[in-house]
Amino acid sequence: MAGRSVIPVALLGLGTVGGGVYELFQRQKDQFFPKAGAIPMITRILVRDMKKPRPGVDPSLLTDRWEEIVGDPEIRIVIEVTGGIEPARTRILEALAAGKNVITANKDLMAEHGAELFAAAEKSGCDLLFEASVAGGIPIIRPMKQCLAGNNISEVMGIVNGTTNYILTRMSRDGMSFSDALKKAQELGYAEADPTADVEGTDAARKLAILSSIAFHSRVVLGDVHVEGISKITARDVAYARELGCCVKLLAVARSDGESIEARVHPMLIPAEHPLATVNDAFNAVFVHGDAVDDAMFLGRGAGALPTASAVLGDVIETVRNIRCHCTGRVGCTCYRQLPVKPVEDTSSRYFLRMQVEDRPGVLASVASVLGNNGVSIAQIIQKNRQGDSAEIVVITDTVLERHLRDSLAIFREMSMIREISAVIRVYG
Ligand code: NAP
Ligand code: HSE
Repeated sequence: MAGRSVIPVALLGLGTVGGGVYELFQRQKDQFFPKAGAIPMITRILVRDMKKPRPGVDPSLLTDRWEEIVGDPEIRIVIEVTGGIEPARTRILEALAAGKNVITANKDLMAEHGAELFAAAEKSGCDLLFEASVAGGIPIIRPMKQCLAGNNISEVMGIVNGTTNYILTRMSRDGMSFSDALKKAQELGYAEADPTADVEGTDAARKLAILSSIAFHSRVVLGDVHVEGISKITARDVAYARELGCCVKLLAVARSDGESIEARVHPMLIPAEHPLATVNDAFNAVFVHGDAVDDAMFLGRGAGALPTASAVLGDVIETVRNIRCHCTGRVGCTCYRQLPVKPVEDTSSRYFLRMQVEDRPGVLASVASVLGNNGVSIAQIIQKNRQGDSAEIVVITDTVLERHLRDSLAIFREMSMIREISAVIRVYG
């Protein structure tokens, strides 16, 4: 390495992703110079607990004192893989103010404070790169910001949470219970420290906020995204989906006609022959529709130590190249519009409704009449599982406005002949 320039790097966090980044730095160490013309080297690692055993990690690199990193003028790149909003936000702002380039996998932060962080990066002329924050190892941020920059993008849709995709796959393919599948996903390092954000769809919503902001050049934050998770999906819904030739996936969907944006995350029945139906386990996939490229699909591992580290290392190499060419901060915030986000009531979809009803003449007619009177057209009705004076009915609707469906459901809840609304799931198409 004599005579070759070294770029000191601080790694904040040494958990699942930080451990993967550390390992990949070791694997790549001889190839950094030929790839980037300089050698990024981890010289400091920030952790919370200095006593935790860290096999294979040089203990002299560890610190629990942020001041040692932000106050070290030699450090040119800070990789933030601690997670959460604070203190990560403050540390990133301080690092940028100190002229350090920042690479982060933190979707919580980018989905809520992206504008503030970009403004700080622009002010200091530093790189702020976040490829790992969406869909783990899949290259999607840079392709959308750069390779697809010549398009008007009208749709971004995909499976962007590995944990829920893993759970739904194991429930459907292996008949595993929800809780066993979640436990396994945690063991494999896919789930967040608190898996509620995975299971309730918030993790996917954060990623969709980031993707929509880039796709439509207009800032979308977490609060703009309508979110429903998978915790209410039952084995029975999965079995009906199979009977209907579909599978259940947690989808993130964002569309724009150039005037407004719709952004939502929810479970959906998708036909078994749809390409997304074949995306299983912790794999993620993102579809992008642009007016020039037409359809483009990105597929890969959306979580886990090395796939996520792959995205981080790509950002490190990009930053090293930019440092060498004195052009950090070249691609910053790309939001140059301000489009409103539509309320979910104004969006349209097909729906699967599963209800427990009284088993007597006239009930089906009443259900059909409520739906019809509220502008909800029925595509299919299935009735089975008659037990005593109860029956289960499943209604598949045509494409209807969400507000019309909600009006119908409000009436159903007041009707004694309808004993339970067991499931309301959107259907693709
Ligand atoms: P993790 O396993 O919980 O690791 C977090 C690491 O950060 C730990 O080493 C912890 O230190 C350290 N840390 C946390 N708070 C700290 C603080 N206040 N000060 C100093 N160190 C602190 O988390 P992870 O799964 O690696 O996720 C890290 C980030 O990557 C998150 O933003 C996550 O959303 C994102 N991400 C994760 C994945 C994935 O597959 N896991 C994929 C893409 C993106 P100790 O070791 O001392 O506890
Ligand atoms: N918990 C996330 C997932 C990790 O399951 O996809 C990647 O962000």
